[in-house]
Amino acid sequence: MQPVTLAADRLVKGHGGASRIGVDIGDFDLTEGLRRVAESITITDNRTGQSLEIPLENGGVSAADFSKLLPGTWFYDPGLTATAACESAITYLDGDAGILRYRGYPIEQLAEDSTFLEVAYLLLNGELPTTDEFAVWEREITLHTFIHENVRKRFLEGFHYDAHPMGMLVSAVAALSTFYSDAKDIFDPDSRDKQIIRLIAKMPTLAAAAHRFSVGMPFVYPDNSLPFTSNFLSMMWKIAEPRFAADPVLARALDVLFILHADHEQNCSTTAMRVVGSSHADPYSATAAAAAALYGPRHGGANEAVIRMLTDIGSIENVEPFIASVKSGSGGRLQGFGHRVYKSYDPRAKIIKKTADEVFAVTGKSPLLDIALKLEEIALSDEYFISRKLYPNVDFYSGLIYQAMGFPLEMFPVLFAIPRTAGWLAHWQEMLNQDSKIARPRQLYIGSEERNYRPIGER
Ligand code: CMC
Repeated sequence: MQPVTLAADRLVKGHGGASRIGVDIGDFDLTEGLRRVAESITITDNRTGQSLEIPLENGGVSAADFSKLLPGTWFYDPGLTATAACESAITYLDGDAGILRYRGYPIEQLAEDSTFLEVAYLLLNGELPTTDEFAVWEREITLHTFIHENVRKRFLEGFHYDAHPMGMLVSAVAALSTFYSDAKDIFDPDSRDKQIIRLIAKMPTLAAAAHRFSVGMPFVYPDNSLPFTSNFLSMMWKIAEPRFAADPVLARALDVLFILHADHEQNCSTTAMRVVGSSHADPYSATAAAAAALYGPRHGGANEAVIRMLTDIGSIENVEPFIASVKSGSGGRLQGFGHRVYKSYDPRAKIIKKTADEVFAVTGKSPLLDIALKLEEIALSDEYFISRKLYPNVDFYSGLIYQAMGFPLEMFPVLFAIPRTAGWLAHWQEMLNQDSKIARPRQLYIGSEERNYRPIGER
């Protein structure tokens, strides 16, 4: 058995210069490749010769243990690409194998057999509900779908006529904290549960209200005789009919999309939720921060970028030249391809592709679908994409479905925020139960040394 030493220069980058630390992953059997046979690593500070053995737990090593040997030396990890910021029992993701599980249940099974509301319960409570538990849960959610009239009349209707619905949603969620003073009681389990129910229940109402305002249509009150997703569709599309009846195929398809988007472990918005929540801010403020993170085109806006890309490509004949322009760097990125974590086919994309067929059977095929399929076919057999492990992600087909269902592009991040609220809240609750520390990373300072202030006339 031979120890393997990995130089980890970046650990000591920053002030202080060119120091070096050896990280000795001491117990690997090289006869069978890097197979781990003991659960620890040993690090050596080459400046002092001191060593420390640190246990590997759940695939990670404790930064606090590293700090015992290296006080004042920080891990340099912009984008937190190699940092586990928490322990979590909610979602398991193996990006190389294309595996996604909520609380141990494969996403494929949940998408096939469950409902979004049941999945929300699972994420928050750790177990699927019994019949009685689900009845109570569904009733609680249903009873909290209405929003205070002032939220609609004074906040939402106060926006500029062309306000982006995601901007409206972010602001309205933050405003909710001012309506529920008990939201600050985050360590009172009853109060916490009540805010969780309110947030999950009111999100579709706020989302639909933002859309109706942005297209100049009157607000539609929730119809609490309808299931969660059909109720949202009613608030979106109802015009003058006494009762809106959503097409069951479309309602189910949207419910499946909600299941697929309900959680995805420590993504940008969930991390924002945990960071803001770690200051013990109320859950409405933390959810608004998470939704703001989701608003960005690198996160919740990618499916909109896919539609714009497909529209620009315009026809099948243009697909090959477009791929060539992506490869040469002149055409930007192939939107909806690649993922920070998935280095194989995103399991959500596989499910969505099937859902797309069901939706198009009702709505008629999107003219952009053939372009998308051709893009996928060429990219999956092209060395550029194969060597970089670039596969379709969840956003490659989701935008096509939303568009076929009649949602405007601006609503795409809003449609993401509705189900992800359940995931955000599950992480927020888990974090509070873990007695976590306030998020407060360090930095490597690269600015000026000390210098003296000079009056403005002398500069
Ligand atoms: N098209 C063409 N080349 C790409 C793409 C792409 N979509 N994605 C990555 N690459 C190339 C990149 O140019 C780089 O090549 P090289 O090594 O020659 O410089 C290599 O692949 C690695 O890229 P990276 O930027 O280091 O990878 P990352 O893990 O930082 O980025 C990503 C992940 C999702 C931001 C990126 O793949 C991307 O921009 N994709 C398009 C946008 C998109 O679809 N985003 C939705 C993500 S899924 C939604 C969610 O889960 O929230």
